[in-house]
Amino acid sequence: MAELRLEHIYKTYKGGVEAVKDLNLTIQDGEFLALLGPSGCGKTSTLRMIVGLESITRGDLFIGGRRMNELEPSDRNTALAFESYALYPPLTVFENIAFCLRARKIEPSQVKQRVTEVARILDIEDILGKRPVELGGGQKQRISLARALVRDPDVFLMDEPLSHLDAAQRAHMRVELKRLHAQTRRTTVLVTHDQLEAVAMAERVAVMNLGVLQQVGTFDEIYNHPVNEFVAGFIGEPPMNFLPCEPVSEGGELGLRATDGSFTLRLPSQRAQQLAKQNLKQVKLGVRPVDMLATSQAGDDRIAGRVYTYESLGEEGQLAARVGGHEVLIVTPPEDHFEPEQPVWLGVRPDRLHLFHGETGAAI
Ligand SMILES: Nc1ncnc2c1ncn2[C@@H]1O[C@H](COP(=O)(O)OP(=O)(O)OP(=O)(O)O)[C@@H](O)[C@H]1O
Ligand SMILES: [Mg+2]
Repeated sequence: MAELRLEHIYKTYKGGVEAVKDLNLTIQDGEFLALLGPSGCGKTSTLRMIVGLESITRGDLFIGGRRMNELEPSDRNTALAFESYALYPPLTVFENIAFCLRARKIEPSQVKQRVTEVARILDIEDILGKRPVELGGGQKQRISLARALVRDPDVFLMDEPLSHLDAAQRAHMRVELKRLHAQTRRTTVLVTHDQLEAVAMAERVAVMNLGVLQQVGTFDEIYNHPVNEFVAGFIGEPPMNFLPCEPVSEGGELGLRATDGSFTLRLPSQRAQQLAKQNLKQVKLGVRPVDMLATSQAGDDRIAGRVYTYESLGEEGQLAARVGGHEVLIVTPPEDHFEPEQPVWLGVRPDRLHLFHGETGAAI
C-alpha cells in the first residue's frame, strides 16, 4: 500500500507532442481515483509513466514517499491492466496469470494459492484450464485484470479495463472492482471514458484536457462546482447547455441578455453580485438539461424557444429547442410531450445556473 504522488510531471514525446503538462496530483494511500478526459488528453501516457513503461520528461514521481523516476518497472511494485489483453496464446489461463509470479521465482504452492484467489475474485475459476483462443472478450479482459492483481501491487492502475465488456458484464465488473478495492484498500487509478464507471467506483475524479489537469474532487464537487467551461461540459450527461450572454443592468439589478438578443434573464442577487465584481463584457450561461423546465405557457423569466426535436425515452424525454441561434437540450418528465415547431417557454432553476468567463471559460 502506498501514496502515489506526481509533482510537476511532463511528458514530451519525440517529435514534440506534449502529452502531459505540469501534472500535480496526489492519490492517497488506499484511495480509488478515476482519471477522466477526452481521447488524446494524456491519460495513458500518465499511467505508463507511473509504471515505468514510458520515461518521465520532467518532474518527480513518488510512490510511498520514494522517488521512482529512474527505477525499472519491475522495481516499482505497480501493476497496469491494459485495454488490450496481450495474453500468451500457448499458455493456459492459469499459466497466463501465474507468469509474472513464476518469473519472480515464487514458490509453486504460493503461486497456486494466489492465482486461485484472484480467479475466485474475478469469477474465472472455471476457465483456468482453457487457452486464450477459446475465450470471449469479457473473459480475456478479466484475465488481464487477474494478471495485474496477482502481483499484489502497491499501486494498481487500470486503463479502460471494462471497454470490451457488454453492458451486463460491465455492470457486474463495476461492482466487483469496487468490492475488491474495499477489501484490499489498494491505491488505485482507473482511466475511463465512462463517467458512470467513474462515479460508481472511484472516490475522487481527476479531469484532464489537452495534457493539463483541470480539476480534482469528488464527482459531486466536480458536477456541482466545475472550475471551468470545459469541465462543466465534459462531466454530466446529457451535457450542459452554454449560451453566450452579456451582463446588463435592469432597474439597478444585473441580469443577462443573450448575445443574439433572444432572451433576457434575471439573476439571483448573489450571482448578480459575483458577476458585478468581474465587470465583464461577455459571459457564458451554463445550464444542465436536468435543471431546465419546458412548458407551453409564457411566464416571468421564461425563455422563449421553439421545439426542434423531441424524443421520449421512457423514464424521461429529451427536448431540443431552438433559442435564437442556439440549440438547448432539456430533460423533460415522461408525461410531457412536444411536437416539432411548437413554441415552448423554458425555465432555468436559478440556484443551478452556472456562469463562465466569456474569454477564459473560468467559472465565475
Ligand atoms: N509513443 C508516442 N509517440 C508520440 N506521441 C504519442 C505517443 N503516445 C501517445 N502520443 C500522443 O500523446 C497524446 C496523449 O496520448 P495518450 O495515449 O496519453 O492519450 P489518452 O488520454 O490515453 O487517449 P485515449 O483516450 O484515446 O486512450 C496524444 O496526442 C497522442 O497522440
Ligand atoms: Mg489511452
